[in-house]
Amino acid sequence: MAITAAITAVEGYLPDFVLTNEELAKMVDTTDEWITSRTGIKERRILKGKDQGSSVMATEAVKRLCEKRKIDPLEIDMLIVATVTGDYIFPATANIVCDKVGAKNAWGYDINAACSGFIFALVTGAQFIQGGRHKKVVVVGVDKMSSIINYQDRTTCIIFGDGCGAVLLEPTEDGSGIIDYVCRVDGSGRKHLYQKSGGSANPPTNDSVDKQEHFVYQEGQQVFKFAVREMADVSVEMMKRNNLGADDVAWLVPHQANKRIINAVADRMELPESKIMLNIHKYGNTTAGTLPLCLWEYEKQLKKGDNIILSAFGGGFTWGAVYLKWAY
Ligand code: UT7
Repeated sequence: MAITAAITAVEGYLPDFVLTNEELAKMVDTTDEWITSRTGIKERRILKGKDQGSSVMATEAVKRLCEKRKIDPLEIDMLIVATVTGDYIFPATANIVCDKVGAKNAWGYDINAACSGFIFALVTGAQFIQGGRHKKVVVVGVDKMSSIINYQDRTTCIIFGDGCGAVLLEPTEDGSGIIDYVCRVDGSGRKHLYQKSGGSANPPTNDSVDKQEHFVYQEGQQVFKFAVREMADVSVEMMKRNNLGADDVAWLVPHQANKRIINAVADRMELPESKIMLNIHKYGNTTAGTLPLCLWEYEKQLKKGDNIILSAFGGGFTWGAVYLKWAY
């Protein structure tokens, strides 16, 4: 059999601080009822403290991953970090994480694909395993969304949270692992969800900060419409292309942006709620963190050979789906 890239361990890290809907209702004009019924979110986690960037969460998750799989960080060949909230514009957060965990033999880089970041990074990491060049690739999905959220904007501050998940990819020839994927981008959608300043097009100035352009800008309804259609399309495409009926799919791992989007995607796939991984009520939208955090939380329920479909949609626009067979 051909070599495939299998997830052989998964770990996560969530900051301790819990920001509830009730707390948010004291900060902006909203209610627990509105947030719960429109998004499915009850609370989210926030990374507090000075000088605490995304690498803090990623480092902890990767350390736990190595301990769990009983590997020395020196064995890691490559480490990819999916994030839109890296510690710095440069260097890449992957460099910082490699340094902090002692992965001195690894190389790596960051992938910026917003909420689809983990899927894009997973597919990228898998190529190096399948090609036979690397034996151990760590893929991290992490975001400290609280660093780019305006907590006076009720349309965005209720959605996002901080968190990190990480997986280890290793080669296998037993038919498990990543079987198929589809990844897509449409840059014409960038105007509906982005950070207006801070990059090279509009470097940060006092004026840009005064105008609050360093925060996430989102046209929620536009993003919602695209997310429902495109996430469902690629998920159904994964099923059709691989001759999977609803009964053959053990789990859908959907990006956790809005419970209504997740339900619409599951409906198109004709999957019952019992097959959908969910953590949005506890953590909100952790951007690149949602998919690996779901896998981590549901790990004990997974069985070797389970057919799993991961699916995401995010800013850019970016979207994609992965079909994998669980390896342990
Ligand atoms: O992960 C990356 C991709 N992002 C997404 O997938 C997010 C997709 N979009 C969404 O999840 C939803 O569009 C939101 C949750 C952002 C908003 O929900 P919605 O049902 O689309 O609400 P809306 O924007 O159509 O707003 C409806 C009303 C508006 O009031 P009016 O104009 O009808 O008077 C809003 O001002 O709800 C108001 N509103 C709120 N009310 C209470 C917006 N945010 C809030 C709020 N609390 N937090």
